[in-house]
Amino acid sequence: MEEELKTIVESANEKVATVTNRAGFEAFKAEISGPNGSLTRVMKGMGSVPKEDRPAFGKLINRAKTQLQEMYDDALRSIEEAEIAQKLGPAIDPSLPSPEFGPGSLHPLTQIREEISRIFKQIGFTVAEGTEVETEYYCFDALNTPADHPARDLQDTFYFPDKASFGNVSKKEDERYLLRTHTSSVQIRTMLKEDPPIRIISPGRCFRRDTVDATHSANFHQVEGLYVDKNVTVRDLKAVLDYFFEQMLGKGTKTRFRPHFFPYTEPSFEVDFSSTHLAKLGSEWVEIAGCGMVEPAVFDAVGYDPEVYSGFAFGMGIERIAMIVYGIDDIRYFYQNDHRFLRQFA
Ligand code: DAH
Repeated sequence: MEEELKTIVESANEKVATVTNRAGFEAFKAEISGPNGSLTRVMKGMGSVPKEDRPAFGKLINRAKTQLQEMYDDALRSIEEAEIAQKLGPAIDPSLPSPEFGPGSLHPLTQIREEISRIFKQIGFTVAEGTEVETEYYCFDALNTPADHPARDLQDTFYFPDKASFGNVSKKEDERYLLRTHTSSVQIRTMLKEDPPIRIISPGRCFRRDTVDATHSANFHQVEGLYVDKNVTVRDLKAVLDYFFEQMLGKGTKTRFRPHFFPYTEPSFEVDFSSTHLAKLGSEWVEIAGCGMVEPAVFDAVGYDPEVYSGFAFGMGIERIAMIVYGIDDIRYFYQNDHRFLRQFA
């Protein structure tokens, strides 16, 4: 009897290694502990054991049962672990490169911004920086934009409730702080710091209270340009913008100036361009920028003598250019961080 139990446990111990799934486990367990199992048969023989031997026999049986139960538990645990591992997929080797994502790439707006900077650098412009939080002075007053100008309206501009924590960027005590509505404020910041000749562009983020739709976003990007020297004329302005747009949008791109009004330039123009990209846009001339000759009042504000110096300035939307270059019809794609969109520019 004792021998028999020993054999049952030993052979179970050997067999358990071949059990790899639940069905195999149930069959294995039934062979031993099922109604016709080997252990069950031995236990059934209990009746024929002499009374005085029964306690010892019972002990042996219990020991075998405990050993077998441990085997069952272990086997079941490894089956469960294998099932989970299968669900999770292949084991993870953290030292391998990620299979899903390639190396990162620049956002399309960043790519366009860098291309714009590259083109202007070729003709002697440097990149100047401003701040996104501005005061009314830099954004409006110094740019000859009067208090009742619509751009200054609460409807159009994000003002800060107080000016406590933005550091000393203001010239006047009673000014309000706001998120800049355009990059033109960098003109003032640059001219207050430096003397002519000045040749800068300044790309950056701007903010307006626009209702978001396919062509408007409350947060967008512009690039500003400023050129100040002696004897700068509209011809220089036109030549620089012609060069830029031909580089940016391809050979054969033409620009046209239409008279317009901006408080900080006189004369002022809106710039349209026409190029082969326009087949996608469905019209011949498309508005792309604002520009003009720096208004003498702006020179007065920064302490330049308008009798000595003249200059031109321009501003344009980076999203606008990116949409034209890439044929994108909705500005919102730029901000959704959807990899299916962004990957196309990698
Ligand atoms: N600041 C203007 C805007 O946001 C664009 C602009 C127009 C900039 C004329 C200029 C300029 O420098 O001379 O619409």
